[in-house]
Amino acid sequence: MNLKAENVFKPGSFPEYTYVSRNYENTGISYELRLKQALRTAGCLTSIIGPSKMGKTILCERVIGFSNIVEISGADFNEDTDFWATVAAKVGLPYKGEIITERASVEGKSKESDSKSEKYVLSKDKVIQYCIENEKVLVIDDFHYAKPEMQIKMAQQLKDAIRRELKVVVVSLPHRSDDAIRQNSDLSGRMSLINIETWKREDLKKIALKGFDKLSIKIGDSVAEKLAVECLTSPQLMQYICLSICTLLEDEEKKEIDDDILQRAYRFTTVNFNYGDVVNVISKGPNPRGQKRKKYKTVDGKELDLYGLIVESLAKNPPLMEIDFETFYIRIVHCIEKGDAKLDKQTVRNHLNNLQTILQGKEEIYRAIEWKDGKVYILDPLFLFYLRWGRMNG
Ligand SMILES: Nc1ncnc2c1ncn2[C@@H]1O[C@H](COP(=O)(O)OP(=O)(O)OP(=O)(O)O)[C@@H](O)[C@H]1O
Ligand SMILES: [Mg+2]
Repeated sequence: MNLKAENVFKPGSFPEYTYVSRNYENTGISYELRLKQALRTAGCLTSIIGPSKMGKTILCERVIGFSNIVEISGADFNEDTDFWATVAAKVGLPYKGEIITERASVEGKSKESDSKSEKYVLSKDKVIQYCIENEKVLVIDDFHYAKPEMQIKMAQQLKDAIRRELKVVVVSLPHRSDDAIRQNSDLSGRMSLINIETWKREDLKKIALKGFDKLSIKIGDSVAEKLAVECLTSPQLMQYICLSICTLLEDEEKKEIDDDILQRAYRFTTVNFNYGDVVNVISKGPNPRGQKRKKYKTVDGKELDLYGLIVESLAKNPPLMEIDFETFYIRIVHCIEKGDAKLDKQTVRNHLNNLQTILQGKEEIYRAIEWKDGKVYILDPLFLFYLRWGRMNG
């Protein structure tokens, strides 16, 4: 079979050919087995928590299978949604409706018909029974998207449903309002908790190795390693970059992945990401209110203020998800041309504090980095990748 690259590397959906199974919290069992075990524990609700884009949804799809999974998003629920009507609609059951029975009599020549209509509401019990009989597993994905009032209502419904042995998985981000589930005393002792960790380099490498092998494209271990470093912790980024590599190779009718292709594939991949505004906000810093900021000459011939230097330093090699202050300070100092003004540590700290305040007050996408407890944390691996490869002409 001649596979196409887009069927092998799938950054946005289920990667049938590049699915990698990971070890669950160093227990020696896989995440898949852990989820299977949880689903077999009758009367318990499974709660999956993990950072964005780490494979929560994909894990559910893999273990439960597309014919048995009933995927509902937290976003499907707002205050006036009837929980069971939404579930019924997803499984394809008519929940509310009208039955019209027609009787036709063909006596003599005249054809008469008389119809009777009846309104009905399918009960919650019927929905639960249907799911159990058909081995359906309810996955409430992105639970944090549901409004808080609705989350509480859902938790009540779920408590009752799992007692009747309906299989339910609730998926959510960490530090988010899924307290309705994990902190719910009614549910305590009736929950299987699964925490999804960020990806390690070895597992990320497997995505590339598996995929290129399927496509009969040679890839050395050292190339796979470079890719894995660049992806930080993101399997999705790995899928994106590998697909870009394939597109370039096909376009140039090449079969070998060298450093040149790698670098161009990185740049090419960043066009998928839209962090231009985030970079602008960080490099501008707070409103200078008419005051002129000190500019520093950089080793590569630019003139930047300290906010600009912070952006440059974030993007430096090697890409790191967390950078302690000392390392960060040294990175900044190394950006500045020798002989230019000295920079003291407290000034850098103050600037980082200012940035933290600005980013905190903005929308989700701006929370790509965080400065706390003496460290700079990258919260979104795609953002760092963009910083490194998306600003080439900027
Ligand atoms: N086990 C895996 N093997 C290979 N690739 C994976 C795996 N898990 C996830 N991916 C890649 O990462 C992408 C994102 O995964 P997924 O949608 O499951 O993340 P998520 O944790 O549900 O994210 P969100 O919080 O945004 O819903 C997938 O489309 C796929 O490309
Ligand atoms: Mg998801």
